[in-house]
Amino acid sequence: MVVLADPGHVAQGGRAVVAGSGVDAREIYHAGHPKGTAYDGRVETANAAIARPQRFRVTGGARLAGDVQVTGAKNSVLKLMAAALLAPGVTTLSEVPDILDVTIMSELLRRLGCGVHRDREAATVTIDVPQKVEHRADYDLVRRMRASIAVLGPLLARTGEADVALPGGDAIGSRPLDFHIAGLLKMGATVENEHGFIVAKAKQLTGATIWLDFPSVGATENLVMAAVLADGCTEIDNAAREPEIVDLCVMLGHMGAQIEGAGTSTIVIVGVDSLRPVSHTTVADRIVAGTWAMAAAMTLGDVTVHNANPAHLEIALDKLVTAGATVDRVDDGFRVMMDRRPTAVDAVTLPFPGFPTDLLPMALALNAVASGTAMVTENVYESRFSFVNELARLGADIRTDGHHAVVRGRPLLSGAPVTTPDIRAGAGLVIAGLVAEGETIVSEIHHIDRGYPKFDEQLRVLGAKIVREDDPAAGFG
Ligand code: EPU
Repeated sequence: MVVLADPGHVAQGGRAVVAGSGVDAREIYHAGHPKGTAYDGRVETANAAIARPQRFRVTGGARLAGDVQVTGAKNSVLKLMAAALLAPGVTTLSEVPDILDVTIMSELLRRLGCGVHRDREAATVTIDVPQKVEHRADYDLVRRMRASIAVLGPLLARTGEADVALPGGDAIGSRPLDFHIAGLLKMGATVENEHGFIVAKAKQLTGATIWLDFPSVGATENLVMAAVLADGCTEIDNAAREPEIVDLCVMLGHMGAQIEGAGTSTIVIVGVDSLRPVSHTTVADRIVAGTWAMAAAMTLGDVTVHNANPAHLEIALDKLVTAGATVDRVDDGFRVMMDRRPTAVDAVTLPFPGFPTDLLPMALALNAVASGTAMVTENVYESRFSFVNELARLGADIRTDGHHAVVRGRPLLSGAPVTTPDIRAGAGLVIAGLVAEGETIVSEIHHIDRGYPKFDEQLRVLGAKIVREDDPAAGFG
């Protein structure tokens, strides 16, 4: 047992990537369940098709045109599901995306003692939280989805103990948890690293002032969820301001929490004795919306993105305008039109409201076919550029140096087989395939299925030539 003298002990810098950020599709239970039912005790597939390793075959040259509907944000709904643990009774979430990560979080909540019912047609999840919940989140789930760490704060607040497996690093970076731990220590918890688990204990958390070294999304969420049932007032400074944080705080507010400042750098929470379950609609997925926007511009397309809030994507949409696109607001979203080859445009990723790191692969892909040279800078993850060698296989001219990438645009990429290491790189490689001559085969697409509901179906509706097929090269079976 290692007692954490300081929270840095759980940082995992430099740790080798073993499982990657995604789910090994071969380990997912698949038994052809009927739609819209709960499958207690087993991990269902988000999409029956991913039970075997699959790949996308993309034929370049199509112009994307038409309408696309965005559903709730992956990076919000997973935290909303964790937040349900804070109140006994039935919480209902709507606009739940049909993605694998929701399946994994459902399984995690079941193992904690909750009844979870998912209705894919209605895009809802109901979570029946018992009076007494378990407090252990095992490695087999946490390693598949690091967002599982979001149960740490709620479990500690609800049960006085949380044993959550350390997720390890992943393809985009080492992603330590030191800010989460430091905040919980300040709130009076003891935190130890035992046999690969964070073991946090606190009979009663107490309010504290917490300064985050970096506006971490996950740490802000965990600490807010811990603080809502703490004794007294907690102030989180340098808090993350992402729309997903606001969404979580809105739901917690409806549950009876007292929170001020969500969406700003200072969040103040006054703890309450108990919370009640609610029904809540998940905020729309700005990263999926931004992916459609980039894809429209790259393919000289005309795409209207519905259920999207342009205020959540201001810098990204402004970059597209700089690149030559026309972006118009529509009632429930925005329309992106492009009638000429994009002009190269610099981008610098930063926490919200900066350019989102999760759109960095799309920015690289766009610049890879733009006229001119762009500098793209990554400030959030140390390894986000690791997939540029795959883009280079498509002929992209990209040179990286530390956290900068210089992209020299060329008129057309050149189709090739590529492998995706994570969700966003996968989406970036697919849209790069749309502007590549010939065929691009993208392998390991279970990563994409984690974050993009029905990505290939939606692309086909917009006119893309993309086929999902089993991947014989993966050697399954
Ligand atoms: N960090 C630390 N210590 C901590 C926490 C974070 O050093 O205790 C570092 C991370 O290593 C990273 C940076 O701070 O370099 C930002 O991490 P953050 O905590 O903000 O990210 P996260 O909560 O782990 C969420 C999203 C990511 C998204 C980031 C940034 C979820 C489930 N994940 O991760 O989404 O990139 O915020 O916006 O909400 C994705 O969807 O593909 C994805 C990776």
